[in-house]
Amino acid sequence: MKLSHRITHLTPSGSDGWEVFYRARQMVAAGEDVIELTIGEHDIGTDTVILDAMDRAAKGGHTGYAMVPGIQSLRESVARRIEERTGVPTTYENILITPGGQSALFAAHLAACDEGDTALYIDPYYATYPGTIRGIGAKPVAIQTRAEDAFQPRAEDIEAHAKGASSLLINTPNNPTGTIYSRQTLDGIAEVCRKHDLWLISDEVYDTQVWEGQHLSPRALPNMADRTLVVGSMSKSHAMTGSRVGWICGPADVVRHLINLATHTTYGVPGYIQDAADFAIAQGPDLEEKIAEPFRRRRALARDILARHNAVGLIPSQGAMYLMLDLRATGLSGFEFANRLLDAHRIAVMPGESFGKAAAGHVRAAMTIDDKAFAAALETICTFAESLSK
Ligand SMILES: Cc1ncc(COP(=O)(O)O)c(C=O)c1O
Repeated sequence: MKLSHRITHLTPSGSDGWEVFYRARQMVAAGEDVIELTIGEHDIGTDTVILDAMDRAAKGGHTGYAMVPGIQSLRESVARRIEERTGVPTTYENILITPGGQSALFAAHLAACDEGDTALYIDPYYATYPGTIRGIGAKPVAIQTRAEDAFQPRAEDIEAHAKGASSLLINTPNNPTGTIYSRQTLDGIAEVCRKHDLWLISDEVYDTQVWEGQHLSPRALPNMADRTLVVGSMSKSHAMTGSRVGWICGPADVVRHLINLATHTTYGVPGYIQDAADFAIAQGPDLEEKIAEPFRRRRALARDILARHNAVGLIPSQGAMYLMLDLRATGLSGFEFANRLLDAHRIAVMPGESFGKAAAGHVRAAMTIDDKAFAAALETICTFAESLSK
């Protein structure tokens, strides 16, 4: 039977830079000890207080179909949290609860783009971005950033591709680079969006993982609330990756259409999961800080270690749970370095090339193992890079 072009062309065929990851997983399956610094998943599980709330909700009977837009209480909690953090007036009518940030990204693009429209995104990028855009029938166009700008996008580079485009997808704090977009970067982005009438899709799933500076939501910039769709998630802020609960925050009339879309796609998020998310948000910033703390600590460890070595450069890593390591001094591509590191030391990192062209010659190390093992792995990466640079 013939499958649709849409589904068979979601991701391009051939090498995509994920080979190192799959090879590491095969080695683990074969019983080898591999230190995995690949995937963005906390090494702590979901906090037991959240699991207890989930258990109470499920056993209390919240296991039937839940309201498609999200339960009222969670929509209100998310709206309140956003208003408190950004100062932008926000009500439940601005919120659709989704099964995680990924489905919010898909829905936001479906709302913003028609078939064949151009949807812009920033390179380096989170792995699913181009496939998400292709999936809704639009054309993905990458805007390159530069290591020398610490991967902050330049407004003039966006401007060069903006004419006729429908949307721009950004992500701050950024996966994979750890960069937090500055006020100046976001002002430039907002200006291009206003000038070219672009929807801004702002992926802010790492908003609680800020190590340096401040996270600024572009929805709070002048005249941006009406054209910004914010993607949020409980995955990273509350270590609830497997619970699949996130949201879109946007203008109320857009949310009404998105609710209609949800009726025809996900049909909502399980009620007991939403109750647990609502409980988790009600715990306030203390719980969020507790969950972010291990990454804050490891990032500080990493800075000390990297300061003692010169073959590896660190993109400032202002936020998120990753380090973007500059290995260009070795003369190797990120892909070659990652493969050699895996063979020589059984340490798995992601080649920068798996996230687009802009991060070539870099690797991304996730700070997702315990402090001691993480520090040891980083020392090994540095000495290995030094031996290759000689
Ligand atoms: C930048 C970014 N956006 C969105 C997601 C999707 O997260 P989830 O669907 O778990 O909310 C991730 C997951 O790693 C991510 O890194």
